[in-house]
Amino acid sequence: MKGIVLAGGTGSRLFPLTKITNKHLLPVYDKPMIYYPIETLVDAGIQDIMIVTGGESAGDFLRLLGNGREFGLKGLSYTYQEKAGGIAEALGLAEHFAEEDKVVVFLGDNIIEGSIRKAVEDFKVQKEGAKIFLKEVPNPEEYGVPEIVGGRIVRIEEKPPHPKSRYAVIGIYMYDSQVFDIIKTLKPSARGELEITDVNNVYIDSGQMRYEVLDGWWADAGESIDALLRANNLIAGKKRGSSL
Ligand code: DAU
Repeated sequence: MKGIVLAGGTGSRLFPLTKITNKHLLPVYDKPMIYYPIETLVDAGIQDIMIVTGGESAGDFLRLLGNGREFGLKGLSYTYQEKAGGIAEALGLAEHFAEEDKVVVFLGDNIIEGSIRKAVEDFKVQKEGAKIFLKEVPNPEEYGVPEIVGGRIVRIEEKPPHPKSRYAVIGIYMYDSQVFDIIKTLKPSARGELEITDVNNVYIDSGQMRYEVLDGWWADAGESIDALLRANNLIAGKKRGSSL
């Protein structure tokens, strides 16, 4: 299985912090933000990762991460998204890298407390389809929100004004190789992006989507300045806890 970390986009919600750099290079406590998704993928046994980035700071990722040896990776690849055309568009750029393998896609601003090792192991033996993670949140309207009927997700709505559950779809997605064909069928949303939620709804409609509720905390560090501060505090708490 291969890992793909998406680190493009404009980072406009964190201006002016992102005026001259990419959001995923900003510090979260003692490390650049992008270290956390990479470390979580490595912990889950992923040894081959592609970083999809964009904008004017793309070269800084190479300076920062190099060939990935520091993380224990076998290989670290890079590609470039020319404009912020959406999460699904960014993922589509990794088709050649995936080589028909299953993939774990990690949004570069998502940080989790725990491990996805078990879920990745389970997905390796899942015959086909996709798997997502949910987390109960106080503000579901800021995220992709699942509608769950009889224990099954029947639809995901992107940032709905009237959420149909208290869950957010977090930014870690597992897909089989169908995902790249699905992306090619998407049309841009009202905000002009190819939406990952539309990809997930195709899997839901074909009965091939599974989900898990994530244990431990989850932070979308790029959502706002307050979310970035919260992520810093959560990591600080985790570090202090482990050093006691
Ligand atoms: O964090 C979870 C949420 O992430 C999900 O609940 C939503 O369903 C999903 O759409 C997404 O929402 P956001 O509004 O938070 O996405 P954002 O535009 O912040 O992009 C998330 C990451 O994806 C960001 O770290 C960089 C990457 N990205 C984004 C865009 C738009 C790219 O690589 N290229 C892009 O064009």
